[in-house]
Amino acid sequence: MIKAKVVSKEILAKDIVQLRLTPNHWEDWQPGAHLDITLPNGMERQYSLVPCDNGQYAIAVLKESDSRGGSLCIHDDVQVGTELQLSAPKSKFSLQQDGRAILMSAGIGITPLMSIADALHAANIPLDFRYAFRAPDQAAYLNWLATRPWADACQQHISSEGTRLDIAKTLQDLQPDAHVYACGPSAFLEPIEAAMSAQNCLDRLHVEYFSNKELELSGSDFIVHLAQSGGEVKVGEQETILTALQREGYDPMYSCEDGVCGSCILPLVEGEAEHRDKFLTDEEQASQSELAICCSRAKNNSITIDF
Ligand code: FES
Repeated sequence: MIKAKVVSKEILAKDIVQLRLTPNHWEDWQPGAHLDITLPNGMERQYSLVPCDNGQYAIAVLKESDSRGGSLCIHDDVQVGTELQLSAPKSKFSLQQDGRAILMSAGIGITPLMSIADALHAANIPLDFRYAFRAPDQAAYLNWLATRPWADACQQHISSEGTRLDIAKTLQDLQPDAHVYACGPSAFLEPIEAAMSAQNCLDRLHVEYFSNKELELSGSDFIVHLAQSGGEVKVGEQETILTALQREGYDPMYSCEDGVCGSCILPLVEGEAEHRDKFLTDEEQASQSELAICCSRAKNNSITIDF
């Protein structure tokens, strides 16, 4: 684990702060990368890196109204001088080095797309950057955007001013060499996925969910068999595999509990999963070789996981 000290905490917009961190070991990072950060309250959360000086990391955090403790802890308890534990930077996005790019972000979902836009522009990829937000006082990095060499390619879509982003129109008749990079909550990303799917080009969509508020966790009860210990645990209608394991004293890895971060993914040994996460790709879900235990369930009466 890397240790890092918070060296600045700055309010960027309503309910959004930026932290700059000085780690004891700095690694360069790929566009769109994030850090796993262990907070003072013991929770682990993922935050996208935003461009800053080498030797430091910067993240921006929205205070979520229904926070389970991650964003609240950063806003209320993390101050200049606080020491945090970090993973090395990790990246889920893979950037195409040809064609053109449409970048679509909603709210704080702009953060991973900032470094991606810089990298694509440096690779001479034509950009169409859409930044959707509710109101100007709730939008981070407007000044930063205005300084970019690709600033002319950025359009702001401001709900309070009646210029809401029309996703279907933006993506209709997608050019064959266009790739789409998108980040935001599920209500923003699902219509993007639907529009890309309707044109049979999901393979050109690169997404990162930062929350999955519509996630339905309940379902029929089932038995989860544990391949490593030989034990079995009943998962009740209102439980997840994760919470059922915790009830029985097990301590599996997890982080977001929203099906978006991938921390809780475990190999599936037997049985079929009803996948509910937004982390695994369609192909990975169809292969039935792993599942996210914070949200996915057994399709039938039982399932065996490698735990
Ligand atoms: S804990 Fe994040 S996907 Fe399960």
